Amino acid sequence: MTSAAGASRFLEVDDIDPSQLTMLLERAASWKAHPSEVPDLLAGHGVALVFEKPSARTRTSTEMAVFTLGGHPIYIRGEEVGFGEREPVEDVARTLASYCALIAARVFDHATLESMSGAVTVPVVNLLSDRAHPCQALADLLTLREVLGGIEGRRLAYVGDGNNVAASLAFGAALSGLELVVTSPPGFELDDDVVERARNLGGTVELVSDPYEAVRGADALYTDVWTSMGQESETEARRVAFAGYRVDAGLLAAAGQDAVVLHCLPAHRGEEITAQVLDGPRSVVWQQAENRMHAVRSLIALLLEGGA
Ligand code: CP
Ligand code: NVA
Repeated sequence: MTSAAGASRFLEVDDIDPSQLTMLLERAASWKAHPSEVPDLLAGHGVALVFEKPSARTRTSTEMAVFTLGGHPIYIRGEEVGFGEREPVEDVARTLASYCALIAARVFDHATLESMSGAVTVPVVNLLSDRAHPCQALADLLTLREVLGGIEGRRLAYVGDGNNVAASLAFGAALSGLELVVTSPPGFELDDDVVERARNLGGTVELVSDPYEAVRGADALYTDVWTSMGQESETEARRVAFAGYRVDAGLLAAAGQDAVVLHCLPAHRGEEITAQVLDGPRSVVWQQAENRMHAVRSLIALLLEGGA
């Protein structure tokens, strides 16, 4: 196993380039179809997985990705290591890197990941921060590739909060030629710097305030929770602000005739999406959830081979 010392990290999707993304998705699809071809790249090695927030999909998919690459996943609760409290973030990172081939973490503050990756030479992977959820975006692109038969030139409408999930989608879209339109209530739009960075990568990112206008002609709709982890005190205010931004049968009918529906999950039926849509025939959320494992496994392989 080789790793590009100090050069590899995956804190946001644009830490890889378009050709690496294409290769990553192709290999994810290939290993999904032919699991016996997955190499034991991590044989004899550990991977540290630190979680400051809860997780169902991310933890389990990453553990299984490490396991099927022949490695040993080590789950560590954020409270155990106490980033910045029990000891400095950098000291935790250096310690974990001395035992493990890769560190992955779900954190409140994106700066924690920056500090970790600055302190070690093993790859650091973002398993969700306040700013980005890049492993989710990889699985989303893999899912769109499968259900739409390709990504380039397809149109995805993201309905809801311009949050971490939306930001990573913007970068993933920019690198893959997916057209992205984001519709959010006033005050909850995608950050200007995210839009600018994605456009500088050649991405087509449109911001449209009217959700019905936004979804017109879309091949896929995507939504996420109105209140992300860490924003619980804003729940009531957000319910009011986002009330017109629910993915329901009416909004789906306004999209392309065959449009599919994605959601990173967990979903709140009756808030950002109705049960009828989430559990309906055009929802691909379970395929999307399964693809978390295939996508992160391919990412880990890319990073360990020094390809990012
Ligand atoms: N989509 C996602 O990241 O799910 P978890 O929070 O359950 O990991
Ligand atoms: N935006 C959500 C995604 C959960 C997978 C959050 O950060 O809580």
